[in-house]
Parts: sequence; C-alpha cells; structure tokens
Amino acid sequence: MTETSFELHDKGMVVGLPEGQRYFNYYWLRDACQSCIDPQTRERVFDASELAQPPRATSAMVEGEVVVIGWADEAQASRVPLALLRDVAANGRGADPADLPRRLWFNDHLPRIARVSQDDVTGTEEGRARLARALIEDGIAIVTGMEKSEGSLPRLVNAIGPVTPSAEGLFFNVRVEIAPTNLAFTAGPLEMHTDLPGEETAPGVQFLHCLENTVEGGNSLFLDGAAVAEALREEDPEAFALLAGHDIPFFYRHDDWDYRAHQRVIETDVDGRVTGVTISQHLQDNMDLPQDLLDDYYPAFVKFIRMMKEDRFLLRFRSEAGNCVVFDNHRIVHGREGYVADSGSRHLRGCYTDRGALRSTYRVLAKKGFDGEAEIPARQAQG
Ligand SMILES: [Fe+2]
Repeated sequence: MTETSFELHDKGMVVGLPEGQRYFNYYWLRDACQSCIDPQTRERVFDASELAQPPRATSAMVEGEVVVIGWADEAQASRVPLALLRDVAANGRGADPADLPRRLWFNDHLPRIARVSQDDVTGTEEGRARLARALIEDGIAIVTGMEKSEGSLPRLVNAIGPVTPSAEGLFFNVRVEIAPTNLAFTAGPLEMHTDLPGEETAPGVQFLHCLENTVEGGNSLFLDGAAVAEALREEDPEAFALLAGHDIPFFYRHDDWDYRAHQRVIETDVDGRVTGVTISQHLQDNMDLPQDLLDDYYPAFVKFIRMMKEDRFLLRFRSEAGNCVVFDNHRIVHGREGYVADSGSRHLRGCYTDRGALRSTYRVLAKKGFDGEAEIPARQAQG
C-alpha cells in the first residue's frame, strides 16, 4: 500500500488513501476512536458534548493498521482503524457484511430459489447463513423437510429472529374459515400484495409453512417487487418518481381493530436504490393525496399494478406439505390462485420476523466465517 498522508486543517484533516484524498471531520475522527466503545457492553461511552473545545488534531500517523491522532486539548491520542477510513473513503460508510446487492429475479427464478432443510437451518451455522443470505439477496427461499408439529415453525423462525406480532397475534393460519377476517382465509383468488401495510411497521420477513395442500388449484404466486420497480424506473421514470415520492394510506379493520398507516409504494434507500415495495389493493384506504396530484399519481399506480400482472415477473408454484416459503414482505409481492374449497385441504401456518433481525443474524454468522454463499453439501437422506 502507498504511504498514507495527512494534511491537518482547522476542523478536519485530508487523508491520502489508496482510494484517493478524503476529508475527515475532527469530531467524527474523535468519535471513531476505538476507546469510545466499551469492550464489555460494546456500546459508545464517549460523549462529544463533554469536550471543552472542539477537537483539533496536532499530529497524525499510521501505526500498523491504525491511525494515531494527537489532540490539542487532550492528553490521550485517538486510535482509528485505517480500514474504517478506507471503507468510508470507498463507500461513504463503514463495512456492513449484510449490505449485499439485491439480485433481481424474474419468472424463470424457480430452479434457482435457495432450498435449505429445516435441520440445516436450525442445526448448522452454514445452513442458517445460507437461508439468511438468500433472503437478503433474492428476498425469497424455501425451507424443506419441515417437521409437522406445532413447534416446527417457531423453531425455524427463531433461528433467524424473534417472532414479531401482528393484529392476528404471533401466528396465523391460512385456510378456509367460516367468518374470515381477511381475504386470505377464503378459497378465492388473492391479488398480488405485501402483508399488512396498515400497520405502522409492516411485517418484515414472512414465513408460510405448508402443513397440508391437497386441493385443486390454489397455486402460490410470487414476484420480485424490486425487479418490477426497477423495470418501471427504466420504462417510465416519472411514474417511478411519483410512487417513490408519496405516501398513500392503508388500513386493516375488523370488529376489534382499526389499523391505519401511510406507506410508499416504492421504497428507496438514501442512495436511491429500491429496497422494497408496499402494495395491497384489498387493504388500501381512500387516497388522500391532493386531488390534482392524483391526476398523475393514479395512472402511475395503475401502471405499476398492471406490470405486476405481467408474465415476465410472475413465479407460480404449488405449496407442498413440508415446505416453508420464507420471503421479505417489503420486497416480494405474493398472491394465490383460487382453489376448489371442497376438493381437499389446504392449510398454511404463518408468522413474521423483523428484517433487522435477519440482517443481524447474518452479520453474526458472517463474522464467524459463514457467509452463506456456497450450497450446503448433501447430508444423509432427509426430507
Ligand atoms: Fe399475504
């Protein structure tokens, strides 16, 4: 590596790195000192507001993998990992093993959906990492060989994160009900949607464990909402900007609940990358954007929904008993073809965990060396 150079200024310094010359603010450098983090709790124990004067560096040098900075008003020098400066220089932020690029997918994705057995997910770190990575990159995976018991689904979910409750409680059953609270609990077709956008924070990762499926019809439908959103950006940037720029209202109402929340149909991050979508016509409230804005918003909205019905995006497969489909509820849009209610039984059991928990699980595994990239080697015969 070429020599690191330092040019000290009043409020910050320019550091010459292999990535180029980069400016770093002194407060930021003081806060990034390794001593600011308590080794026991791993929480920040330094309070920049306690400094009598704004920090001003008087010296900077590299010592091994660390930049040592001397301060005008403090006896103690700061030690900042060089790797952190290089990550910030390259990406604007520290490294995050869970910041994996989304792999957009289309209607031919079925053979490439990651499949991991329940035993591998719950019993091995490589299995858990494989599932977590697939959920971050593809937004969908199938867990096979699910044990048929009450405890089976909780055992699987807890390997990724704690179960997060919804209006239905911790777990819900998708089957025909006499007095359904949701269209999902009927035998009718279910239009493409993400779950429960009426909740302030819509559920993150959804698990659907198929316990039984002997009915005629009832194929499960999935699409990658991020792929559709990117296609919309390509084909109609103005429509994309409208859907990514305005919140619209959703609800979830029944006798004992009345949830309401506003969501953006296309979600983007600070870098403008599509992170997900929120769509649910059966839980969409009356639009409350200004009426003249709706002259433009509605055509964009309708165009996006029509795109979601296009064959190029739509994956269609039959849920099989013993499998659990796991997907990112903020990215993967799902639905169901109608089925003949008295042709057999169809019973899915579902629950959610948080997307932050998923990424946390993945980071912990990645730090231990399990990056989840490789296929799991075949073990002894199992479901
Ligand atoms: Fe759903």
